[in-house]
Amino acid sequence: PAATLIIDPAFTIAPVNRRTFGTFVEHMGRCVYTGIYEPGHATADEDGFRKDVLELTRELGVSVVRYPGGNFVSGYRWEDGVGPRDERPRRLDLAWHSIETNEFGLDEFSRWCAKAGVEPMMALNLGTRGVQEALDLLEYSNHPGGTALSDLREQHGGAPYGIKLWCLGNELDGPWQVGHKTPTEYGRLAAETARVMRMVEPDLELVACGSSSSRMPLFGTWERDVLRETYEFVEYISCHAYYGNDDGDTDSFLASAVNMDRFIESVVATADHVGAELKSSKKIGISFDEWNVWYGDRSRRTDGPHDQWEVAPRRIEDEYNVTDAVVVGNLLISLLRHSDRVGVACLAQLANVIAPIMTEPGGPAWRQPTFHPFAITSRLAAGQVLRVETDSPLTTTDKYGDVAAIDAVATYDDGKVAIFAVNRSTDGPIEVTIDVSRTGVTTVAEALIMHNEDPLATNSATDPDHVVPQQFDAAKLADGKLTVTLPAISWTAVSLS
Ligand code: AHR
Repeated sequence: PAATLIIDPAFTIAPVNRRTFGTFVEHMGRCVYTGIYEPGHATADEDGFRKDVLELTRELGVSVVRYPGGNFVSGYRWEDGVGPRDERPRRLDLAWHSIETNEFGLDEFSRWCAKAGVEPMMALNLGTRGVQEALDLLEYSNHPGGTALSDLREQHGGAPYGIKLWCLGNELDGPWQVGHKTPTEYGRLAAETARVMRMVEPDLELVACGSSSSRMPLFGTWERDVLRETYEFVEYISCHAYYGNDDGDTDSFLASAVNMDRFIESVVATADHVGAELKSSKKIGISFDEWNVWYGDRSRRTDGPHDQWEVAPRRIEDEYNVTDAVVVGNLLISLLRHSDRVGVACLAQLANVIAPIMTEPGGPAWRQPTFHPFAITSRLAAGQVLRVETDSPLTTTDKYGDVAAIDAVATYDDGKVAIFAVNRSTDGPIEVTIDVSRTGVTTVAEALIMHNEDPLATNSATDPDHVVPQQFDAAKLADGKLTVTLPAISWTAVSLS
């Protein structure tokens, strides 16, 4: 079988948005404690941050990091995490059935962001709290000084944090959420919170919560009802999606990006519908602030007995394989393809908890296979995102019907082209001819592939680089045509100049 692709600098979608390459740090399991923060670790710096994880975060090419949750934020009191460490309270965390020591809080996170070179994206507790606490947190974080809370920050942390991007709560449509709400209850609270936050700082960028997944019973109406309340006060509505292969239907799993495409397009259509109702010319963007592969039962809060409350227990430390990396690469293709509306995206999460970076307490840090497509896409995507005209053989899936086996997106930057492509069929190789004659490129600068004879191959603390990207010498460019044979279950990135 063969596929043909056409790349033309005129087929622009939108500029590459660096915020597409966000991730997420939640107070959950070992993401913070023994993940990014572990005083006493051999690589810990003066703040207790693991330098090995900081280095991997930079290598991953992360732009923005959402914090502190997730479900955790809906019961969180931000004040618990600031000030002298020995005075910080220990609290029950109902979201993940554990004990929060508050050793790490907003001031530590801000310092960590500065060291990692990332932008913070702060989530507010709109589960158990409301407008006043949101205002307090904003004043503490951003106000220059001369007020009670900004002076307190100066005392604890120093200069204003300048946080621009704020999530108005988390997954409040979910019955598992502490402080779960109806769309109208949530919509009113989010609108009022947003309205008064803008009285302090008009140029904040605010995200209203969309549905927790496109499978939620209220999906579509939740977005509509929430946006009817919040439209004029927010820039974004959130999407969350996790894909797993628990039932062993690998063909459908490999086509997960089809679901992501439809999800984004449905939310855009819903937002535009509300915009039409309101006769508004404003467009609402998507903050895809949680996405990844996630196996197992998503509603599980604890593995142990109910009376067991631990500090930083191991929670959903999924081990990823090559097939998962292909899916992650394809989900990034979907996000990039929607750069005209997706303004922010966060791979959930960063360390240990369904994460590209794994660590052992007191031990090493290593890259999961899913680390690589993220890092490479973040490094190579630049300039304008281009729609790729694709003629591909089909692959049959139970969940999505017949879908294109080859899926691709490209970017174009000042004479340089980057192409990201997957063969998401399990059947066999596909010969792909890519017409790049309209771009003027003549050289293959770099070609990398994620593929393994064993699609379940993985990495571990003892074999951390078993799955790494390989140089893909088979990619040939001649007479304006790039020819390459993509093996079944593979993700490829090619950079041309
Ligand atoms: O990322 C893990 C959890 O998934 C988050 O806390 C929650 O928002 C989502 O359900």
